[in-house]
Amino acid sequence: MAISVRGVVSPGKGEPVQLTEVLVPEPGPGEALVRVQACGVCHTDLHYKMGGIGDDYPYLLGHEAAGIVEAVGDDVTDVAPGDFVILNWRAVCGQCRACKRGRPWYCFATHNAKQKMTLADGTPLSPALGIGAFAEKTLVAAGQCTKVNPAIAPATAGLLGCGVMAGIGAAINTGGVTRGDTVAVIGCGGVGDAAVLGSRLAGAKTIIAVDIDDRKLEWAREFGATHTINSRNTDAVAGIRELTGGFGADVVVEAIGRPETYKQAFFARDLAGVVVLVGVPTPDMELELPLLEVFGRGGALKSSWYGDCLPSRDFPMLVDLHLEGRLPLEKFVSETIGLGDIEAAFTKMEHGEVLRSVVVF
Ligand code: APR
Ligand code: ZN
Ligand code: ZN
Repeated sequence: MAISVRGVVSPGKGEPVQLTEVLVPEPGPGEALVRVQACGVCHTDLHYKMGGIGDDYPYLLGHEAAGIVEAVGDDVTDVAPGDFVILNWRAVCGQCRACKRGRPWYCFATHNAKQKMTLADGTPLSPALGIGAFAEKTLVAAGQCTKVNPAIAPATAGLLGCGVMAGIGAAINTGGVTRGDTVAVIGCGGVGDAAVLGSRLAGAKTIIAVDIDDRKLEWAREFGATHTINSRNTDAVAGIRELTGGFGADVVVEAIGRPETYKQAFFARDLAGVVVLVGVPTPDMELELPLLEVFGRGGALKSSWYGDCLPSRDFPMLVDLHLEGRLPLEKFVSETIGLGDIEAAFTKMEHGEVLRSVVVF
């Protein structure tokens, strides 16, 4: 029998979200029911609300979450009731062409729960990124649950499920940042700051944070930026070159998703350097670059999907580093809020007042 919980639903394009009753089925084969303890408010939730992702309303929002497994389907062996887990939106299939080539972090056929959560009247819900965790309980594929050390605070842990993992992974997994590197990060919101933190963890020598907001640059310093550039007053490319012996950075992470900042990343990179695009553009955006420069500068222009992470490999490792005091992930939690505060959190996010608001249950 389905259980009744409270959840936050986006009913239609641009409409305010609603806190309403959600019916969650008992887990079937391959599924897990999770009691959500914390879930961060991410830009992607706002994109769902504003119609930027699809038209499959109503959406059950929320996807940066951690919680306790409450029940699992008969055949599930990887997780069990009582396990503390971070939810992921990359439950690798092991079968698709990416997985078969040994690159499961690109998995093209990730798993989600098969059964639908619904509104009280039976209307099926589309869970955000296949998760839907602005709800007291949610139904996911068992592979979307990654077991980690339960000593971490749930509000901190949940952020690894999306934005923070995307940023850390953009630097370490996609950019291949390593000791001694020079790195520039353009855009220092939650994702960019996570790229700064990841670069520090990897041993980068110089970490240049670029933003148009001095408050964000202050925060970036706390995460490990060695230099900052306010690109409202200073040319980002010239500034980055100046701080890297005139050459440009070995790795430039673009964490905004706009053509003009991508161009800055492109030109602020040293010869044979790497540009990592982790910011997500919108469909109207186009990029123009001199092709001779694309050739002549060599190196690599890469996109980072979810930080090219492998949840089963990366989440437990990052949680352990945090618990050892080596990764201050708690600094990404700007505030904790209730399920009824999502609209207010969207507003704060749009005004750049927070890195992450996190719903705690
Ligand atoms: N130049 C420099 N910095 C900029 C510019 C610009 N032209 N425009 C915006 N910024 C800065 C903002 O001041 C802010 O600090 O970029 C940062 C963006 O951060 P957030 O809005 O907090 O977004 P975040 O959650 O970090 O996500 C960044 O990654 O995963 C994607 O969808 C996500 O596209 C988004 C991006
Ligand atoms: Zn696969
Ligand atoms: Zn997200």
